[in-house]
Order: sequence, then structure tokens, then C-alpha cells
Amino acid sequence: MIGNKTLTIIKPMAVKKGFIGPILTKINEAGFRISAMKYLQLTVEEAKAFYDEHRLKPFYDDLVAFMSSGPIVVAIIEKENAVEEYRHLIGPTDPAKAPEGSIRRLYGTNLQQNGVHGSDSDISAERECNFFFSALERY
Ligand code: CMP
Repeated sequence: MIGNKTLTIIKPMAVKKGFIGPILTKINEAGFRISAMKYLQLTVEEAKAFYDEHRLKPFYDDLVAFMSSGPIVVAIIEKENAVEEYRHLIGPTDPAKAPEGSIRRLYGTNLQQNGVHGSDSDISAERECNFFFSALERY
């Protein structure tokens, strides 16, 4: 069954550059409904846990340091086939390879500071939404 939700994170550099509003506008204009949202700063331990699947990758320590370096916006966004639709809207991981008009091309800085995170599968979306939000925090 195709899921209808995905998790996005507006990453520290995009927040710092003032891109929260423009990114949320792109999400709204693409027809997603925001069902949960928080503005917070991850601890190093929380960032490690969130990105645990990448713990053996060479970029893991830097990614954890970056993701815990400043406030982020996390949100559950909903639409039919949300994971795939959102991945299309944001573009590939590297902003330099992302198409014109995609969120990562517009608001990403580099491969690590790529503007936003988006879940890569329905299973990841389920885990990631549960990581940040309880049932009472979803609308
Ligand atoms: P994200 O969608 O948050 O999922 C994993 C993150 O790891 C990714 O975005 C990038 O921020 C980061 N990442 C992935 N590949 C690399 C890489 N080759 N070098 C540095 N960072 C990377």
C-alpha cells in the first residue's frame, strides 16, 4: 500500500538563511497538508539516533555535528504517495544535481547542507514521524 505521509526537516543552514517561509510555501503550493510541526534543536545524541542507518558512512560524524548545530523545523506532511511526491519536489541529495525550481536547488548549499531532509521510503517515514511526534501532536 502506498503511504500518504512523509517527514521533512528544514536543516540548520536553511533555517539560518531565512528559508523556513519559502520552503513551507513550496510545500503548501505542491498540495501537501502539514499535519504536525516543531521548531527545535537536536542534541548530538538525538542526531546520532535519527541518522543511525548512516553510522558507518564516512560523512556520519560531520552530518551529526551539522544537524545538531542549530534549530531545525520538522514536519509531517501529507499527500497521496507522499514519499515519492516529496522526493520529486526536493530533488536529489546533491543540490548541484537537483533540477531548476526544486527545493534543494533553490535552498540547499551543498551535499550535506542540502536544505531539507525527506524520508526515503514509507517504512522510513513511519519511523521518522514516530521519532519526532507522538499521536497527540498530530492533527
Ligand atoms: P538527508 O536526506 O538528510 O539524508 C542523509 C544525509 O546525509 C543527506 O541528506 C545529506 O545531508 C548527507 N549526505 C548524504 N551523502 C553525503 C555525502 N556523500 N557527503 C556528505 N553528506 C552526505
